[in-house]
Amino acid sequence: MGLKLASSMSRLGTETAFEVLALAREMEYKGFNIVHFEIGEPDFDTPGHIKDAAIEALKSGFTHYTPSQGIRELREAITDKIRDDYGVDFDPNRNVVVMPGAKPCIFAAMLALLDSGDEVIIPSPAYPIYESIVNFVGAKPILIPVHEGEEFRLTADAVVENITDRTKMIVVNTPCNPTGSMLSASDVKSIAEVAREKGIYILADEVYSKIVFEYPHYSFLKEFDDNIIVVDGFSKTYAMTGWRLGYAIANSSLIEYMTKLQINIVSCPVAFVQKAAIAALRGPQDCVKSMVEEYRSRRDLIYDLMRKIDGIRVIKPKGAFYIFPNVSSYGLKSIDLMKYLLAEAKVAVLHGTAFGQHGEGYLRLSYALSKEMIVEGLKRISEALEKL
Ligand SMILES: Cc1ncc(COP(=O)(O)O)c(C=O)c1O
Repeated sequence: MGLKLASSMSRLGTETAFEVLALAREMEYKGFNIVHFEIGEPDFDTPGHIKDAAIEALKSGFTHYTPSQGIRELREAITDKIRDDYGVDFDPNRNVVVMPGAKPCIFAAMLALLDSGDEVIIPSPAYPIYESIVNFVGAKPILIPVHEGEEFRLTADAVVENITDRTKMIVVNTPCNPTGSMLSASDVKSIAEVAREKGIYILADEVYSKIVFEYPHYSFLKEFDDNIIVVDGFSKTYAMTGWRLGYAIANSSLIEYMTKLQINIVSCPVAFVQKAAIAALRGPQDCVKSMVEEYRSRRDLIYDLMRKIDGIRVIKPKGAFYIFPNVSSYGLKSIDLMKYLLAEAKVAVLHGTAFGQHGEGYLRLSYALSKEMIVEGLKRISEALEKL
């Protein structure tokens, strides 16, 4: 029997980073040495005290189902950390749900809130999963281009211009993947104010909240109201991508429904990983500080090297670990430039259009790799671009 797929499957998108990684791995298999700028994950090992806590939990038999919302101790560690970082209070019983990553939190929040025909404002270029899920649930993504001239920031004015009576949600991502941009405190306040006035949800993806270089991250949690959902996690801050843990903060009724979705899909987050997450939040934070310092010096390095390439125009990223150079002067589609760099320079980057149509003319490079590799990669890119 042929596959008789649900029609919703045709609306599901993907993350192109994994496709480019597969192409790059194929070339490695053939014996080529590839420099990897395509995948957005920390290259650091998870700090030892976090691993120890997981091992301890396993040894002590903490290997069974937990409450679906996540264990109380972890929810408390999350709200304590939020109080320390942002000076705002949340109820660990009512306002928090822990899930296997930030991604499931985004999925659950959208599934719980969006109906077919609802409009969702998404800045573009953006992390591709937002548009994919919005389409999947039958809602309509309204892509608002963010501009290099405004450092790729989503402005409240642009939001206002695109609000209709069908607008149900605004997605924001600060610090931002793919551009490395950050919203200022006043951007966050103005967007929150517009959304509050109009009764529109804000889904704020803040998974890079701790990886910032210029000024502290201003969280939407500081402007919290019933319409705000903030998603954060452990993947980026603590180099824990493979552990799969994230959380959402939202009003208690939405948390109930997100928890209900979790019960239907995975029952609960992984038990011993939750113990590791407590160690991450309650343990020493100097590991985060030193990773961020290393990202900062890599950012400075990649930015300086890129600025020396004649055809490239680039903005200094303020957060996350991505840089988003404008390569339109080469006159190629960004996907063709991506393929050219892989074939000619043996360097894997992502084309800007992997983040939506407004990424045309740009490339995205992750600088979560060693300085030696950054220097080698940029040398190869520069030489290959000179041949164009
Ligand atoms: C903007 C953004 N949100 C969410 C995620 C997913 O995070 P997690 O590993 O916690 O699911 C990523 C990962 O690349 C990301 O870049």
